[in-house]
Amino acid sequence: MIREAFIFLFTPTSAIAKKYGFLYQSIALQARYHRCKKAWLPHLKNCQDLFLATVKALPRKKSVVILGSAHLHEIPMHLLEKNFESITLVDVIHPIRHHLLAKRTSRVKLITQDLSGSLASLENLQSLEDLYELKDKLAQETLFNFDADLIVSGNLLSQLALLPIEAIEKKIKRALTLEEKDVLCTGFAEIHLKNLSACKGTKLIYADREVTYRDPKGDEIYKGHYPVNFSGYEKVKEWSWLLAPLKEASKDYSIEMKIEAYKSVEPS
Ligand SMILES: C[S@@+](CC[C@H](N)C(=O)[O-])C[C@H]1O[C@@H](n2cnc3c(N)ncnc32)[C@H](O)[C@@H]1O
Repeated sequence: MIREAFIFLFTPTSAIAKKYGFLYQSIALQARYHRCKKAWLPHLKNCQDLFLATVKALPRKKSVVILGSAHLHEIPMHLLEKNFESITLVDVIHPIRHHLLAKRTSRVKLITQDLSGSLASLENLQSLEDLYELKDKLAQETLFNFDADLIVSGNLLSQLALLPIEAIEKKIKRALTLEEKDVLCTGFAEIHLKNLSACKGTKLIYADREVTYRDPKGDEIYKGHYPVNFSGYEKVKEWSWLLAPLKEASKDYSIEMKIEAYKSVEPS
């Protein structure tokens, strides 16, 4: 508890990250990692194996960019340091230990950025149509542009529409229908992919593509999925990740994600 309070007080946090609770979520994610490490191991091993296989095939291994770096559970810092000279971590919030590391070594650079481009505008939205308009406007903009030997998008894709959806539901005082949510989830994910495709370098994507809730007997009680067009990428692997074993999020259900990994198709 004292440790968490210290982290809460001393982690550098942008106004936008503070406003939308990213620091709290970052601390909660780290705590969940420690509680669920055993259940997460197969997922983490898949991420690391795929990362190492991708690195092996790179024509050059100087620089890497990780989008949605969080605590680097999926690709730990020691693997990045072992394989690349220059490491750039991009997230809306970075853990304090990454700030301290970036101070000690010029090899590690932190970029604090809202990769959805939407957060600063959420307060001005008055209707669902405003949010659709914002999405269409963002689809015309360059939200990020990195140049590196490898760029990894690390389980960020499904997160990008969450706060916009939450903000508009609060504003219009009703829950969005599944169809409305799908339009937004698909839209924000494809904007991310469009920006990622324009970046220079090999790209590797880890994305949670389906969520399944199971009751204590293991029977499915809910499955959710939204369409995303991954053109320009090839699926290299998929697996399931037991994100929250029974009793972690609730005593009534466990939560399982289907993870899909994609690699950019290199021009021949
Ligand atoms: C599931 S975590 C990623 C896990 C991470 N790749 C790892 O190895 O541990 C999702 C991350 O995306 C970040 N994120 C969510 N929305 C974002 C946004 N709009 N811009 C930048 N980062 C965002 C969160 O702060 C969080 O750190």
